[in-house]
Amino acid sequence: MPSRGNTKRKPEDTWVAVERYIDALQIPSDPALEAAREASRAAGLPDIAVSPSQGKFLYLLARIRGARNILEIGTLGGYSTIWLARAVPSGGRVITLEAEAKHCEVARANIARAGLAPVVDLRLGNALEVLPEIAAEGQEAFDFVFLDADKENNGPYFEWALRLSRPGCVIVIDNVIRDGEVADAGSKDSRVQGIRRLNEMIAAEPRVTATTLQTVGGKGYDGFTLALVLG
Ligand code: SAH
Ligand code: DHB
Ligand code: MG
Repeated sequence: MPSRGNTKRKPEDTWVAVERYIDALQIPSDPALEAAREASRAAGLPDIAVSPSQGKFLYLLARIRGARNILEIGTLGGYSTIWLARAVPSGGRVITLEAEAKHCEVARANIARAGLAPVVDLRLGNALEVLPEIAAEGQEAFDFVFLDADKENNGPYFEWALRLSRPGCVIVIDNVIRDGEVADAGSKDSRVQGIRRLNEMIAAEPRVTATTLQTVGGKGYDGFTLALVLG
């Protein structure tokens, strides 16, 4: 490698440069997704949606799974929802849960602009209250679940995902590394403790087999857990 003299490049800068390079090749211009991101920013939503490459990763996983019935917890502006809704075949659907009315409003417009309103069932409310309603409706079992809401409740969300899914379902959980803090048993961050409780549950749960992949890029150092529902 050529010497860079004293100019030390931070690892974070390299992650971002690589992400830009890969995105330019694999995620060509996408007006609906770009408009969704811009409208979310303009409305003042937090800038915490999955990155383009992570969105495409979710889309590919759902396609590989052949998912027809997807559950997402944590919609924000609907950026990940659009990726997931694009993955389902005709007749498929995505149910997505969001607690904040303003986020719902922005997401609804973004999803409609992407032409996906017929595919997406967006429900406003605390997921812990909406999930029992979904169970009571007796909907078809989910074959793909994306958990991306308040990390403190990852444990209960995982239990609901198991209850509402069928064997072969893929459960993906976002933000499970949190800059590496997840390995700190004494962390004072309630989100980190929520992830650690989830990890204990997954480890003790015979109905799933799981792995966790660490990620780097524009969203910093984080990761996804992937669990397969057995049976
Ligand atoms: N999946 C989105 C990002 C979600 S951010 C994307 O990648 O594009 C997390 C979202 O979860 C926020 O919009 C937040 O309002 C929502 N949320 C937090 N607690 C919740 C709860 N108890 N029920 C439903 N949604 C919740
Ligand atoms: C946070 C939440 C997310 O879903 C995410 O992808 C990144 C950050 C957060 O609450 O800080
Ligand atoms: Mg997230």
